[in-house]
Amino acid sequence: MALPSFVKIVEVSPRDGLQNEKTMISTDVKVDLVNRLSLAGFKNVEATSFVSPKWTPQMADAAEVMARITRHPGTIYSVLTPNLKGFEAAKAAHADEVVIFGAASETFSQKNINCSIAESIDRFEPVAAAAHAAGLRLRAALSCALGCPYEGEVSISAVVDVVRRFDAMGVHEIDIADTIGVGTPERVRAVMRAVTEVVDPARISGHFHDTYGQSLANILASLEVGISIFHSSVSGLGGCPYAKGATGNVATEDVLFMLRGMGIDTGVDFEAVVDIGQWVSGQLQRQGGSRAGNAIAAKRNAA
Ligand code: HMG
Ligand code: MG
Repeated sequence: MALPSFVKIVEVSPRDGLQNEKTMISTDVKVDLVNRLSLAGFKNVEATSFVSPKWTPQMADAAEVMARITRHPGTIYSVLTPNLKGFEAAKAAHADEVVIFGAASETFSQKNINCSIAESIDRFEPVAAAAHAAGLRLRAALSCALGCPYEGEVSISAVVDVVRRFDAMGVHEIDIADTIGVGTPERVRAVMRAVTEVVDPARISGHFHDTYGQSLANILASLEVGISIFHSSVSGLGGCPYAKGATGNVATEDVLFMLRGMGIDTGVDFEAVVDIGQWVSGQLQRQGGSRAGNAIAAKRNAA
């Protein structure tokens, strides 16, 4: 299959990147991060989560973040909404896209959103209906599509089953998420092939955590079977509080470097993203987590 000439990157660092940080990050830094990402050319930024602050304290300032960001015309600001309460808050905050999030593994569903997969579908249906009624874009994330931190292997039929349920709710996009980064290219190809048999590949994205260093290979495998939307996080920030040991999302700088080398356009300014990665790492008082970002920064320093 021919590779796409354009790939949409959903920048998830303000949400997935920061949600797992133990030290509370100021709202100023979160707002600054979202604004810098918009300026760098991302057309879809996952800005925050309207979840229970008891479950994910770092996202407790969601409404304030949304109120203070500078919106760029044409940029979609997405937020996570696990239930109607989250949806109502997201709507009041003028989110462009709401994201329901379920799992292909029963245990992870319980640990992350405190209900079974079937109960989560019942909970998401009114959120989907409300999003359609309000004219908001609706996305659905599917965790543990390549493996579960509690149950281990997850069957492809379990993934396809939830994908079908999301599709029936009229979601615009479905994220195939490797929450703990255990997927390898052949398996990723098989999962992506299976889901694109039931949903148009243009509506499927790959959300890869890089715990085992497989993300770029998994993105390439996905591109080869027709996927053209990927999630990534500047400096490789990220992780889920309910998936112990899982590290960050694939670093945006690394993805951009690879795609640029392959002649695939993203509409994003690579050099600006390197700057953001170095800046946010400084804010979090740690080394940059992107190989490409660190290499470019070192080259600049040496010049
Ligand atoms: P629960 O405790 O079963 O909820 O949690 P509840 O309905 O019984 O309510 C309990 C309390 O939470 C009540 O407050 C509610 O008002 C409040 P109280 O009366 O005790 O003061 N509450 C809320 N507050 C604010 N916003 C809300 C909300 N809902 C209830 N939306 C619930 C169920 C789903 C709320 C909880 O489990 C939750 O918030 N989970 C989210 C955990 C999370 O943030 N995980 C990380 C994001 S998912 C992820 O990272 C994976 C992803 O990246 C893909 C991948 O990599 O796999 C997307
Ligand atoms: Mg994630």
